[in-house]
Amino acid sequence: MHGILDLLLINNSQSIFDSASPQAQKINGLDYGFIIAASCILFLIISLTLFITIRYRYKKGSREPEQTAGNRKLEILMVGIPLILVIGFFFWSLNIMGAILPDRGNHKPDVIITGHQWWWQATYPGTSINAANEIHLPVGKKILMQLEAADVIHDWWVPSLGGKMDMIPGMHNYLWVTIDKPGIYEGACSEFCGQQHAWMRIRVVAQTLTDYKKWLAEHALNAAKPTDTLAKLGAALFMNASCSSCHSIRGTSANGMQGPDLTHFGSRQTMLTGMMDNTTENINKWLTNPQKVKPGAHMPRFIFGPDSVRALTAYLNQLK
Ligand code: CUA
Repeated sequence: MHGILDLLLINNSQSIFDSASPQAQKINGLDYGFIIAASCILFLIISLTLFITIRYRYKKGSREPEQTAGNRKLEILMVGIPLILVIGFFFWSLNIMGAILPDRGNHKPDVIITGHQWWWQATYPGTSINAANEIHLPVGKKILMQLEAADVIHDWWVPSLGGKMDMIPGMHNYLWVTIDKPGIYEGACSEFCGQQHAWMRIRVVAQTLTDYKKWLAEHALNAAKPTDTLAKLGAALFMNASCSSCHSIRGTSANGMQGPDLTHFGSRQTMLTGMMDNTTENINKWLTNPQKVKPGAHMPRFIFGPDSVRALTAYLNQLK
């Protein structure tokens, strides 16, 4: 369960009108301009349709109206106004794109986010941190995100934070973001990427610079060593069953790169890319039969008995 404070801070409206960054605000201005222009056009068309329907409706004894072909003035107006609007919006959009995606210059990315089927990996250059799914970022700082894909095309979009960007295998795409206030901002993968695309949720945890630095320091540490018997048993199982060939746990022999790094798994609030809360019960379900919980996920079904599942869960839980 989330704490009350977390619930209050969660911005899960996922609405472009609920902007929490100057970049999103700029896009918003364009949205409003577009909505106003489109509403005026809609109003004009409805009014004219109504006017013509009523004014020229069939009345007893009315004859067919005079037939005319072509009207240059009207045609210039009909083509001209939309053309001016399209050109206007084109340059307005270009201007905003330039403002929210300025040249990177020599700026190194602050975070590298990689889309995988079906999870997000976040590494922080200059640190050993290899996080998953919950992307921690500081507020009030202009951050350069480098976006990549490990397998197929994914798409990064947190509506409150502005820009939306495709993640294409073999390419590096970039987004600038400045988050206004601390909180949790949700988003989702916005490019169909296979069976579990819908469960490829984004959770950005925006923290004050102090909290963020604390998070970086904690997460740069190696994994906690298990202390109780059950967790120790779980650790041994993890290393001996093939968990360790797909997942990394820093400070142990587990160094697989296929699945999410689990070094600090226990500190995450959600699991399976925002599909469920990170609870003992949910980890149990997942380890018992992954394909039932998230069909298609690249986690094979190991036939773990209930005792093994309990031990593995105990181990994962203490990886704070
Ligand atoms: Cu990743 Cu859709």
